[in-house]
Amino acid sequence: MADMPRIHSQNPPLAPAHSQLTRNSDPATPHPNSRDEPSAGMDDAPKSNAVSAAKASNRKIQELRSSATQCRRRSPRLVENAGGDTTAEQINSAKLNGFTQKSPPSKKRKSGKKVSFFIGDPIPEDEARRRWPWRYEGTKGLQNNRESSKHEVANDDDEELVLNIKCHYSQAEILKTVFDLGDCAYVKGPKGGSNYIGKILEFFETTDGEEYFRVQWFFRAEDTVIKDDGRSHDKKRLFYSTLMNDNLLDCIVSKVKVVQIAPNVNFKEKSIPPCDFYFDMKYSVDYSTFSVIITDDNADDSSLTSLTSPPMMSAKKKDMSCKTGRKCTADGASSNDVCEPELALLDMYSGCGGMSTGLCLGTKACGVDLVTRWAVDIDKAACESLKLNHPETQIRNESAEDLLDLLKEWDCMCKRYGSHEGKELRPRIIGETDEVKRSKMDHKNSDEYEVEKLVDICYGDPTEMGKRGLKFKVRWVGYGPSDDTWEPIESLRKCQDRIRDFILKGMKAKILPRPGDVAVICGGPPCQGISGYNRFRNVDSPLDDERNRQIVIFMDIIDFLRPKFVLMENVIDILRFANGCLGRYAMSRLVRMQYQARLGIMAAGCYGLPQFRLRVFLWGAQTHEVLPQFPLPTHDVVIQYGFPSEFERNVVAYDEGQSRNLEKIIVLSDALSDLPPVANDEKRDKTSYRKAPETEFQNYIRAAKLDMMGSSSCETSMGKNPVLYDHLPYPLSDDDYMRVCKIPKRKGANFRDLPGIIIGSDNRVRRAKQPDLMPSGKPWVPDYAINFRDGKSTKPFGRLWWDETVPTVFCFPDPHMRAVLHPEQDRLLTLRECARLQGFHDYYKFCGKLKERYSQVGNAVAVSVGRALGYSLGMAVQKLSGGDEHLMTLPPNFSHSTTTQLQSLLIKSEQ
Ligand SMILES: C[S@@+](CC[C@H](N)C(=O)[O-])C[C@H]1O[C@@H](n2cnc3c(N)ncnc32)[C@H](O)[C@@H]1O
Repeated sequence: MADMPRIHSQNPPLAPAHSQLTRNSDPATPHPNSRDEPSAGMDDAPKSNAVSAAKASNRKIQELRSSATQCRRRSPRLVENAGGDTTAEQINSAKLNGFTQKSPPSKKRKSGKKVSFFIGDPIPEDEARRRWPWRYEGTKGLQNNRESSKHEVANDDDEELVLNIKCHYSQAEILKTVFDLGDCAYVKGPKGGSNYIGKILEFFETTDGEEYFRVQWFFRAEDTVIKDDGRSHDKKRLFYSTLMNDNLLDCIVSKVKVVQIAPNVNFKEKSIPPCDFYFDMKYSVDYSTFSVIITDDNADDSSLTSLTSPPMMSAKKKDMSCKTGRKCTADGASSNDVCEPELALLDMYSGCGGMSTGLCLGTKACGVDLVTRWAVDIDKAACESLKLNHPETQIRNESAEDLLDLLKEWDCMCKRYGSHEGKELRPRIIGETDEVKRSKMDHKNSDEYEVEKLVDICYGDPTEMGKRGLKFKVRWVGYGPSDDTWEPIESLRKCQDRIRDFILKGMKAKILPRPGDVAVICGGPPCQGISGYNRFRNVDSPLDDERNRQIVIFMDIIDFLRPKFVLMENVIDILRFANGCLGRYAMSRLVRMQYQARLGIMAAGCYGLPQFRLRVFLWGAQTHEVLPQFPLPTHDVVIQYGFPSEFERNVVAYDEGQSRNLEKIIVLSDALSDLPPVANDEKRDKTSYRKAPETEFQNYIRAAKLDMMGSSSCETSMGKNPVLYDHLPYPLSDDDYMRVCKIPKRKGANFRDLPGIIIGSDNRVRRAKQPDLMPSGKPWVPDYAINFRDGKSTKPFGRLWWDETVPTVFCFPDPHMRAVLHPEQDRLLTLRECARLQGFHDYYKFCGKLKERYSQVGNAVAVSVGRALGYSLGMAVQKLSGGDEHLMTLPPNFSHSTTTQLQSLLIKSEQ
């Protein structure tokens, strides 16, 4: 059909991807990811790959596994790239193909009559060479030695080229059915399994008389990263892919009708033409990406005539004038000469706001005004921190499940009361509730209470009466805010006018989002049921575990509000626990809701922090939006562990050989050397700096809020903020303090430097025979330190050193299990030091008890990572990114430049 992407005919992405030119000899080889087999190295190799797998399926699975480790990213570089320019799918395909197997002869009927064969004359050679030049060009050097060179080992990956092409055909007959190029077909699947589905791209014969077809595969949902949850998807929905390979002609089973439909069609509606299958999106193994199909407007799609032609995003029509009204440049920066409408963000499980703060700063850096309008978190202190730093945000201190119910009720009420807006109010009725009446009777000698107004709304059980439901907070006539009470809606039946007042005002002030109000939802739904430390994990059905339900609720909220963009964050374990089923579920829900999706694994250190911290990020975007890319690292940090090998293609990193300009890794001295010394018992929340910033990082982290908000104010960050907040450590107990004072101030020092222990030749710590006790009578080295990790650990009471980075910032710097001592002071890292390691600017303050504040910081998405992602989001919002690229490059010095610095650099570069 006319708009079908032209993958092969003019500009085959595979050419000269010889890895495609491998052969299939046994189409019935089980798929390495089938339920009968353990998961292979690459999760999302489609079953179709198995079509071309060799007979010795187990051996091929081994090959597949080893191929996964061969191209592991050690990043920010891909150390060994299996395929040069070859795409992941191509590598994947090649590794699955049985290219070392000799192809069996085509099957014949018992009578000896072939059931599958080409018909008609061969395509004239000059035309065939023009259409498939790479198929013929490969043979040039071998013309003189054809007999011995049917296949050529093409590269280090032992991939073999079929070079002995005799001619191409345009038709074949299979089991009495005529097939044309461009037809879609069932191709033999594994024994007992479904047949695969693909589109026929070529028919060709070798000089040996073997008959082949080249196929471009479609994925079923369960063939993708979604795996088992794919069963919940519409059985007729397929995903287009650029994965293709060669197979013997007799693998074709029968014709199928596959149609392309516009993304975002209601699948249940009649808008889908009669077909066996349809597809609306494309799937790519890299970053497990589901995206709309980008087409070249001028493409000649004659080879795809069996497909319909819906409107698709045009690669050529990338709108370079940004949506926001700002003047934008091709590299995404903008001059802030025009004011644009803001985009509203809902931060779910907001904590103190690390993720949303980063996102908003990042979008600002590329000229998009994303503002956290709403946030929800069950933790009161975290909500207070967020409020302190984001007075513009409506913060709801409640559970996400309560918010979801409330949003639904709110929308219904807005529809009901909003439609009467402007009509005359009914006579005021005195509202009176039995419940309130009874409770107040005891306190006041009155038998009637009048509702002055309603001041808040919630869904849940705020007064812990044992009954969830819709409640209003009531301000009583003659009483102040401290006497406000929560009342169920049922008891306010007589207060329709007050309810209506509240709702109309609330609608105007957008106290709660309604479907369509939210541009972006971000959040990290907690999945406590997968914690590596939790021995009672429900591996069989993790979604039934209440502690993992938040991922369902998060997706339900997305389903209800339908934001344009989604960003979900989580720990790596969601890809590891129970075969990554929670991560797969999240992806599955987004795709089922017809969102585009892309999953990446990012290390915080890659964005200019002295902390490794690996996390999973999942983008979602509606189909008419550009799916955001992942921002490539700015700093040279090697990622070589911590992620399941199955998801190595999701690691956000440079490939080996890819040109890059990375800055040196940031270490603790870069981040902390300017902070004044503080004692273990420091109590002050506010101190002063005493020193000017010494490094680029320190300049950046001390930037004023105005500089980060991109204000045109000429105020600079340097020295303008003399007050230092939250620079105090959690105080050590007396015994621990004495221990810490005895830990030498040198790199690598830890509890092993304390008296009363012996370190064996096996590196195990044992207690010395002669006890060495502290003044308190306790041993210098407690039992837990000796027993930790079988006596082999070096972590308890470990001192950090200036040239190091930390693995992660924890919710509490526990010296009994972790190296969290300041390099040169006898104390734990302060809250401010931890906040800096997380990329929080020094202007960001925290509320709550000191332990709660540590927890907020440790729980946060590193602000620098959020900011890098925000930049990608801003580019996507403005449709300045896109195409099939999964990754984007951030502007030079991005990670440690303020928004105003980035803007002024841009203005200079424009002059
Ligand atoms: C990992 S933290 C989020 C950090 C945050 N995204 C940031 O970057 O600062 C998870 C948060 O979820 C909150 N939480 C846990 N269960 C919740 C629930 N049922 N509803 C709302 N919030 C919840 C916790 O209080 C915690 O602040």
